[in-house]
Amino acid sequence: MNLFSPLYLRSLTLKNRIVVSPMQQYSANNGIPGNWHLVHLGSRAVGGAGLILTECTAVSPEGLATLNDVGIWNDEQQEAWKNIVDFVHEQEAKIGIQLWHSGGKGSLRHPNQRMKPLTDEEGAWTVKSSSATEINGVIPQEMTVAEIHELTQKFADAAMRAVEAGFDTIELHAGHGYLFHQFYSAVINKRNDEYGGSFDNRIRFLVETVRAVRKVIPEIMPLLVRISAVDYIDTPEGWTLEDSAALSEVLKENGVDLITASGGGFTNVSKDKVFPGYQVPFAAAIKKTGILTGAVGMITEAQQADEIITSGKADLVVIAREHLRDPYFAIHAAKELDVETEIPWQYQRAF
Ligand SMILES: Cc1cc2nc3c(=O)[nH]c(=O)nc-3n(C[C@H](O)[C@H](O)[C@H](O)COP(=O)(O)O)c2cc1C
Repeated sequence: MNLFSPLYLRSLTLKNRIVVSPMQQYSANNGIPGNWHLVHLGSRAVGGAGLILTECTAVSPEGLATLNDVGIWNDEQQEAWKNIVDFVHEQEAKIGIQLWHSGGKGSLRHPNQRMKPLTDEEGAWTVKSSSATEINGVIPQEMTVAEIHELTQKFADAAMRAVEAGFDTIELHAGHGYLFHQFYSAVINKRNDEYGGSFDNRIRFLVETVRAVRKVIPEIMPLLVRISAVDYIDTPEGWTLEDSAALSEVLKENGVDLITASGGGFTNVSKDKVFPGYQVPFAAAIKKTGILTGAVGMITEAQQADEIITSGKADLVVIAREHLRDPYFAIHAAKELDVETEIPWQYQRAF
């Protein structure tokens, strides 16, 4: 088994283990992916990655972080995604959508404007979270139980739209300090009801959403979840790798096929904790619980990526920034590892 071995997830076959990691482009209006997204995702499909994941895609307008993020809550957005999905499929690649809600990390300006909170004139909305705990200087409103249930349904509705648009898989974004993470983290979640307090209560929103999504998507379609395996907060409330392993077991029991182990989301991660492959041990530890995993974070070299797979530390390598530097990472990696790979006929004279 190596970087170019296929991976079978329910009925989905990935031609290799290379994934384009979700990357927000802040280039949409009204949540509609446009030409930028077609070229960005499409060129990485041309570049040979087995699975392309969209950037985080909001399930409702309040789920956006900025007004330039993408969504999939209406027909126009769904139609625009379909066009991108069709192009990726024409390149013999697979495409998944990352469904997301920003929770207390919403209502922000474009990153070019330093992601400061939007003003009312700019279209600010009231951000809501598990609790009224400050996140990045903003105190969100605590969600009611009815609102939690409604949002679970919105994830299911978005998943149905994604299936209709032709996506091959769905990933729930449950890391990086966004809404699911705001529920399972005891640092943020201070609720006293069935959605707060104990571990089981804090993971309840994510688990119920997994069940709701699993119910509406085809049995043969794989379901992925990205988590923050650790939050780098060194207090008794901090989320640990042991918590992630326990969460992963529950997610697996509820029909999740693969976990991508990322990290952080509420604080800056100190520089000494970030180095090539720094999150691979998280994927390896979670894999020991019996679920498939994706490793992400500073994976930039063909040999490094291949070693992660051949040594059995993870089942997929999920590559973000190196794919911005080199959309053809997979083709180049195949050459370097001396593996035969398909090159689009239009480009064959160059390789
Ligand atoms: C421009 C940019 C946008 C990102 N947007 C997302 C996102 O939408 N969803 C997500 O889960 N992670 C997002 N990330 C995090 C990456 O997917 C990845 O986890 C992180 O960059 C570490 O991987 P790398 O070292 O290969 O870049 C983003 C990263 C970058 C650089």
